[in-house]
Amino acid sequence: METITRTKIVDVLKSVAFGSTVNVKGWVRTRRGSKQVNFIALNDGSTINNVQIVVDVEKLGEEYLKPVTTGACISVNGILVESQGKGQNVEIQATEIQIYGSADPATYPLQKKGHSLEFLREIAHLRPRTNTFGAVFRIRHNMAIAIHKFFHERGFFYFHTPIITASDCEGAGQMFQVTTMNLYDLKKDENGSIIYDNDFFGKQASLTVSGQLEGELAAMALGAIYTFGPTFRAENSNTPRHLAEFWMIEPEVAFNEIAENMQLAEDFIKYCVQWALDNCHDDIQFLNDMFDKGLIERLEGVLKETFVRLPYTEGVKILEEAVAKGHKFEFPVYWGVDLASEHERYLVEEHFKRPVILTDYPKEIKAFYMKQNEDGKTVRAMDVLFPKIGEIIGGSQREEDFEKLRTRAEEMGVPVKDIWWYLDTRRFGTAPHSGFGLGFERLLLFVTGMANIRDVIPFPRTPKTADF
Ligand code: 4AD
Ligand code: MG
Repeated sequence: METITRTKIVDVLKSVAFGSTVNVKGWVRTRRGSKQVNFIALNDGSTINNVQIVVDVEKLGEEYLKPVTTGACISVNGILVESQGKGQNVEIQATEIQIYGSADPATYPLQKKGHSLEFLREIAHLRPRTNTFGAVFRIRHNMAIAIHKFFHERGFFYFHTPIITASDCEGAGQMFQVTTMNLYDLKKDENGSIIYDNDFFGKQASLTVSGQLEGELAAMALGAIYTFGPTFRAENSNTPRHLAEFWMIEPEVAFNEIAENMQLAEDFIKYCVQWALDNCHDDIQFLNDMFDKGLIERLEGVLKETFVRLPYTEGVKILEEAVAKGHKFEFPVYWGVDLASEHERYLVEEHFKRPVILTDYPKEIKAFYMKQNEDGKTVRAMDVLFPKIGEIIGGSQREEDFEKLRTRAEEMGVPVKDIWWYLDTRRFGTAPHSGFGLGFERLLLFVTGMANIRDVIPFPRTPKTADF
């Protein structure tokens, strides 16, 4: 076969160099046609759109074309021509086809018919080849780029926090332990506690639940930073919004108070949504048409609305009034309760009909590091609540007072001896500061309109599943 430089399908589809010879490579979506002429829909992942290859069956040989079935990988040389058919501007009249790899129709699981998302999760190694997952993963890439651009343009520094840690940032005891000890032969002291002296790190270590504590150290030096990396939670929640391994973006800014933190969160999400609309049009249109007819409208809606700012206490009043008027929630609602997703969604979807930033939560249900309000009951927390998702961001202004922070850590059972380095930021040159964490996959749920978080990360880790 003649060697011609490959053109990506995304570029071929935009080309007007009719009459020129091109090469494309990709995976066959379908082959159909007659004894004389075949049409191959070819996709190489560069775009959701396929290029149509027109094949003179006699010229290339019927036998030779037999392995060109759905899923096979081929390289095609041909002439670029203006398309007569609807739905595409160009097509390629094949002159030569090389078959890189066939895909036996008897065993290849992705035949042309639409498969359920549940079935596709069982073949996560192949699902990127579907239109749906191609679209989702291209959007995922674009959101990562948008995030770096947003912060870089505003003078934030990308700061790398460790994945292996000896401290529990959220104090929620949901950590996966990291050890090289022989689990069949654990050494214990007289109280039955495991002795970690001979473990790899000489102490108990785990996978991080958040890079915030280290992020705060960096903000106290570089001024404004963000992290963007994997985080891990061993919470046994089998919901469409929880993963055991997810990616989190955590900005942290010196001198920002809670109001500025809220504005940063709002600007940040809007920037990402705008980026998706501007750069992922074909993929979002596809997801809108196939799964969620309201998707584009919802994305555009969020850009127009100012997010509601509402103290927790007011939020609970609204929910209690709803109950009094006969609205049924599965879980009870009263001041002090950690709101369930149904409560959050009621506020967003039914009461305000736009995103809500809930602030000033009871201190008992929030982490030890949040700044305490004068009322002695609430802390300067903020959760950003979104339609269909519930909590998309969690953050706060941080307690900058050394004594208050140390006391609160002790009250909440956070071992102060393990976070001496964190407390040092409050001993030396402390300052007001704030930050938040955005769950990357929750943002992707919103932007793609997918309903299950397992479908916006390539290889989901959830209770009892770590395949692929
Ligand atoms: O509210 P969270 O627990 O806050 C923190 O970890 C803080 N240290 C963040 C900070 O202030 N720097 O988690 C932040 C966000 C949540 O709002 C949610 O979007 C996401 O992380 N998240 C999860 N996403 C998927 N699966 C899970 N199990 C998640 N847990 C939290
Ligand atoms: Mg939270």
